[in-house]
Amino acid sequence: MRNLIDITDLTVEEIDALVATANDIIANPDKYCEACHRKKLATLFFEPSTRTRLSFEAAMLELGGTVLGFSQANSSSASKGESVSDTVRVVGCYADIIAMRHPKEGAPMVAAMHSPVPIINAGDGGHNHPTQTLTDLLTIQREKGRFDNLTVGLCGDLKFGRTVHSLIHALSRYTGIHFVLISPEELRLPEYIIHDVLEKKNMSFEETQDLEAVMPKLDILYMTRVQRERFFNEADYIRLKDSYILTLDKLKNAKEDLCILHPLPRVNEIATNVDEDSRACYFKQAQNGKYIRMALILKLLGVEV
Ligand code: CP
Repeated sequence: MRNLIDITDLTVEEIDALVATANDIIANPDKYCEACHRKKLATLFFEPSTRTRLSFEAAMLELGGTVLGFSQANSSSASKGESVSDTVRVVGCYADIIAMRHPKEGAPMVAAMHSPVPIINAGDGGHNHPTQTLTDLLTIQREKGRFDNLTVGLCGDLKFGRTVHSLIHALSRYTGIHFVLISPEELRLPEYIIHDVLEKKNMSFEETQDLEAVMPKLDILYMTRVQRERFFNEADYIRLKDSYILTLDKLKNAKEDLCILHPLPRVNEIATNVDEDSRACYFKQAQNGKYIRMALILKLLGVEV
């Protein structure tokens, strides 16, 4: 039985196959509309979500399956003190596959050790968000046509932004990637990722606080929200929250084919009139999330179409 806890649980070849399946789903949706008939997905969300939970649910419904679950911890027996391991042992009696989001790093891994059905990590604390990374990769493939030879700017909260952590793991397996890490000093990428991923793999990278200075060289600009829910003190959040606001003016020196991504939700990081710029890909990215999750559900359930 396969789980998806960390993006590196999938080989590069498996990611290529998932991206190919997602592209086929986009081109031929009818082919897949009964693929998961009588299968059930449980969405166990101990933390808020719009995109991840609803795109998982839409994905299973579009595959002909059904969904059950909860969207907040306090509507589940976790509020009475039930452990994650007991919860998944029980939910595994009712569902064929589980997508779980949890504020505690490692909770989906613990779940996978006790679950009778596949577990998908839908985001664990400030750690990882592998299905967002699959979404990002599908979008990069559709917009740029490749995963190699790209200069990738990652901007904002690189400390707590789990989507950034997973994306760095994923892209560091391709050749010719140069990472430009753009953040305030306090929100720099954690040392363990710099050391264990970037330095160990001899990746090309630079760190800066100046988004405009590096803008002309970027092929991809991945904006992120400052993660209020991970801060210990509100004053620090307020001081840092508007560190980077992407405006049309700041895009003047950007490449014509720059691809602007954001995992969303957006708070204030991208001015809304940037949405009309042809380089803004973040709403397409959110839509791609449904298709790649459809491909992932098929893979983990072992359904051949
Ligand atoms: N990108 C993302 O994880 O969004 P949600 O928190 O709305 O699921």
